[in-house]
Formats: sequence, C-alpha cells, structure tokens
Amino acid sequence: MKKVGIGIIGLGPRAETLLASLKFMTDVMEITAICDLNQSRIDLLRSKILEGNMPAPEEYHDYRQLIADPAVDAVLIPTSWNSHLKIAEECLAHGKYAGIEVGGAASLDELWQLVHAAEKTGVSCMMLENCCYGRNELMVLNMVRQGLFGEIIHCECGYEHDLSEMAWKTPDKERAVHNRFRCGDLYPTHGLGPMAKILRINRGNRFMTISSTASKARGFAAAAKAHGIEAVYNQGDMVTSVIRCANGETIMLRHCISLPRPYSRDCRVQGTKGIWLEDVKGIFVEGISKTEELIDLAGNPYTEHRWSKVDEFYEKYDHPIWKKYRENQVGGHGGMDFLVLSAFVDAVQKRIPAPIDVYDVAAWMSVTALSEQSAAMGGQVLPFPDFTNGKWIDRAPEVPSPWGLNEIV
Ligand SMILES: NC(=O)c1ccc[n+]([C@@H]2O[C@H](COP(=O)([O-])OP(=O)(O)OC[C@H]3O[C@@H](n4cnc5c(N)ncnc54)[C@H](O)[C@@H]3O)[C@@H](O)[C@H]2O)c1
Repeated sequence: MKKVGIGIIGLGPRAETLLASLKFMTDVMEITAICDLNQSRIDLLRSKILEGNMPAPEEYHDYRQLIADPAVDAVLIPTSWNSHLKIAEECLAHGKYAGIEVGGAASLDELWQLVHAAEKTGVSCMMLENCCYGRNELMVLNMVRQGLFGEIIHCECGYEHDLSEMAWKTPDKERAVHNRFRCGDLYPTHGLGPMAKILRINRGNRFMTISSTASKARGFAAAAKAHGIEAVYNQGDMVTSVIRCANGETIMLRHCISLPRPYSRDCRVQGTKGIWLEDVKGIFVEGISKTEELIDLAGNPYTEHRWSKVDEFYEKYDHPIWKKYRENQVGGHGGMDFLVLSAFVDAVQKRIPAPIDVYDVAAWMSVTALSEQSAAMGGQVLPFPDFTNGKWIDRAPEVPSPWGLNEIV
C-alpha cells in the first residue's frame, strides 16, 4: 500500500513526542509537511525529522497551505485547544483525514460544525486519544467484551495530574490561561475515551445528561504565590461530573490538576460480576479472584472479596493489539502514542472510518463545554446533544479492523 503523506500542524512539545513514535512508522507513512506560526519550532522539528533519517518535509507558516499541499494525505493537529477543531474542519473540507489532539471544546457549536463537515465530505476526523490504546484500558475492554465483568453498571475515570507549576513556569501558555478564566472539566478525554468505548457510546448507547460540581480554587494561586506571582485562577481544584447514559450506566469523572497527588486516570469499570480499579492496581472477577470465608469476633461467618493484581491477567487477557505490540515496544507514553498513530495511519491507508470517529470526538469533547455550564449553575443537570441525530440506535457495524475499539478483532 502507498505510504501515507502526513502533515503536522502545531509543532509544540506534543509534536515532538508524536515524532518519537512516527520515526518507527516510516514503512507506512512519510512526514511530507510541517507547519507552525513560529519559525523556531519549524527549525527544531525539521532538525529532529532529519536526525531520525527521514526526508526533509515542506515547511509552512499558514496551515491552509499545508492542507492544500497534494503530498499531504492526512493531517495531525497538535495545536492549541482553541484552534484544532477549526483546522480539522478545514482538513475535512479538503478531503483529508484529520487527527486532532486531545482537549475539550469551548462550545457545542464548534462540535456541530465538525460533525457536519465530516458528514458532508465522508472524511474521518479521529481524536488521537492515546489512552484508548493503554494496555490496561484495552485489556479491560477485551475482558468486558468476553463477559468477565458481567453487565457494566458504573464507570469512573478522570485526569488527576499535579500541573500546578504551570501557574509560575508557563503562566502565559494556553493551558494556564484557560485554567485562569474557565472552570469545568477542561481535559476529559484521557479517562472518558476508554470508558465510552467500553460502554459502546454512539453505537447502541449515548451520553444523556451531565451534572458537574466545582470545588473552590486554591492550588494554582498558591503555586503562583510561592513564586512571587499574584494571580486569580477560576478553575476549581476538583471538578466532579456525573454522566448518565441511555442504557442506564453512570460515569463519574474527576478533573484535578492543581493539587499534589500521584498521576492517575482514576479508572473504575464495574459490572455485575467484576471490577477494575486503577488506583489499587486491582481486578476482582467472580470465579477467578479469591474470596475468603472468615469468622468475625462474634463468631458469625462472612465473605471477603480479595483483589487480584492487574498484571496477573496480562498473559491471558491482553488485547490482541498489545499481544502483538508487547514483543517490540517503541514510542512514547508507554506505547500508546505509537498505537494510536498506527490506528490513524491504517484508517487513512485503507480509506475506512477511524476507530475514534467524529461522533466520539463531539460527544467526548462536549463534556468540557457542558461541565462549565453545569458547574456555573451549581450542578444543574444538562442534556447532551445527540450528535449522531438518532444514528446511535442502529448504526451499521464498523468496518472490522484490528485497531477497532468497539469489537475485538
Ligand atoms: N495525548 C497526549 O498525551 C497529549 C500530551 C500533551 C499534549 N497534548 C495535546 O497536544 C496539544 C498541543 O500541546 P503542546 O503542549 O504541544 O501545546 P503548545 O501550545 O506548546 O504548542 C502548540 C503549537 O501549535 C502552534 N500553533 C498554534 N496555533 C497554530 C496555527 N493556527 N497554525 C500553526 N501552528 C499553530 C503554536 O505555535 C505551538 O508551537 C494540546 O491539545 C494538548 O492538549 C496531548
């Protein structure tokens, strides 16, 4: 198959980490063009591309010129949160696959525009949500599809990552500015993406309502003050959202990036027969994990369920993607970057819909805009738009693909 010509718009630190995986994919793609507003970023990325023994790409300052370049088949868009949806829409209008980086939407309107562009052109916009290809997330998806967890009742997930130093290190970067002015779940998809796939959102299920509550805001301002900067941050230290799905499942979502704690995506997948809880690195599955019959001090018998360690399940239940990948692990973020980029390039090469499609992008990113509104109204329950316009009920099955996140191929 012809190699895919990849253009990259937005050459910040994220583009550098993507490059660390793309350099292992030269059998299926070539970086044919790069673009940034800033010449120093273009120079840096070009030198890294050459260091990786890849051919020199075309260089652009105007992303429209990159999109129009005939050597570009598909575009990666690791730009800012306020620009990637608009750029993706223009890619689709030119018939080019768009791979947008993670982040939330500022409004529902910009998501509708993206959905309409994809429907009009038939071209796919994929979110490069690398966490959907995390080893544990994929293994649990595999176990859920095999029925080990029974019927799924409740999921939890989030983004808990102490990024408070941005308040003094990079107070003028986009992410810090958003956290100064906004209050909501600004970064929902690392946790929510894998849960949405497990729950078959947009394929037989959908998000119906959300209620979000924000705590007071202390962490960012304190971090800034410790470095002599007086600043007001609007972003609550903990934003908790509860989503209810059409099939009755609930999802609890946390966003906490300004308090000290170890990194976590807070995953919990709980069904009638089993549970995965990321923070204890544990799984309990009825019939597989241990239960102990004990006697309490009053002499009454009781049963204790014991956690099995997650890594005890890898040998038997690793997802086929990981069974293959674990033999030769390359790229950043524990392999997730290489896998999500491989999934994107595969869809472009075969001209099939991407495994994370425009309806997923819209549903997942809408959480940001909706959580802001809900939190501002003290937890008001808000409806999700149905971006599929009813298609979620009986969509045609997706084209079978080893990279698919709905069925295990
Ligand atoms: N998936 C992950 O694990 C992961 C990790 C880090 C960041 N990200 C995401 O990647 C994206 C980029 O992150 P970053 O830290 O590199 O951001 P950044 O702001 O440091 O860099 C963005 C770059 O895009 C360029 N840019 C912005 N608008 C542009 C335009 N219109 N045309 C051309 N260039 C433009 C900027 O000049 C800058 O060099 C964000 O959406 C972030 O959420 C994802």
